[in-house]
Amino acid sequence: MKKKLLFLGPPGAGKGTQSVLFCKKYGLEHLSTGDLLRNEVSSGSVLGLKAAEIMNQGELVSDELVLSIVENRLINITQGWLLDGFPRNVNQANSLKKLLEKINQPLEAVILIKVPDDYLIKRLLERGRQDDNEEVITNRLKIYREKTSPLIDLYSKQGILKEIEGNAEIDVVFSCIEKALG
Ligand code: AP5
Repeated sequence: MKKKLLFLGPPGAGKGTQSVLFCKKYGLEHLSTGDLLRNEVSSGSVLGLKAAEIMNQGELVSDELVLSIVENRLINITQGWLLDGFPRNVNQANSLKKLLEKINQPLEAVILIKVPDDYLIKRLLERGRQDDNEEVITNRLKIYREKTSPLIDLYSKQGILKEIEGNAEIDVVFSCIEKALG
């Protein structure tokens, strides 16, 4: 089983859900930039307050902030890792590549979880997180299409992208991911 992974997909695709299950079963470290940023927000730090404003609009937090958070974590992990929600644009992908070269841990596979927009919107509205209202979801989807989706082509050209149908029961999606990575 591959142990240096990235789960990619639009908001609500199930990246977080599948990452948690996968990391538990295979003993990987789950690195979710969304969770790490929400922790920062809960701490009430100045950085957190700045991040909250941006996240509540569905925009991307600055590359510098996200990169510093990821770098600090990644360099200390030895067991394998799963990136969830990072990288989110081409600049972050290039920075990740350099960082992984530096620590000699190349990315082994990228799982793209695909779900049609109307299902994504329904899932997120039902979840009801702070940034899960119709206006912000629409913006998150727009940002995903504009800034994150170019990574699909980038990783596809590297031959490490696997596409998964995410519009199915959670355990079915999980099995498809296991199969793709096995
Ligand atoms: P982040 O937390 O990464 O949010 P997101 O990418 O929008 O993803 P979600 O958490 O909404 O969805 P998910 O795909 O993880 O799905 P989940 O498993 O939760 O980022 C939030 C914000 O932080 C960003 O907007 C940005 O501002 C900032 N940020 C984060 N990373 C950044 C970065 N690298 N650079 C800059 N800014 C960054 O599932 C969603 C719901 O669906 C749940 O209720 C779940 O129970 C349900 N569900 C899951 N799977 C299924 C299924 N198979 N069937 C039915 N329901 C399902």
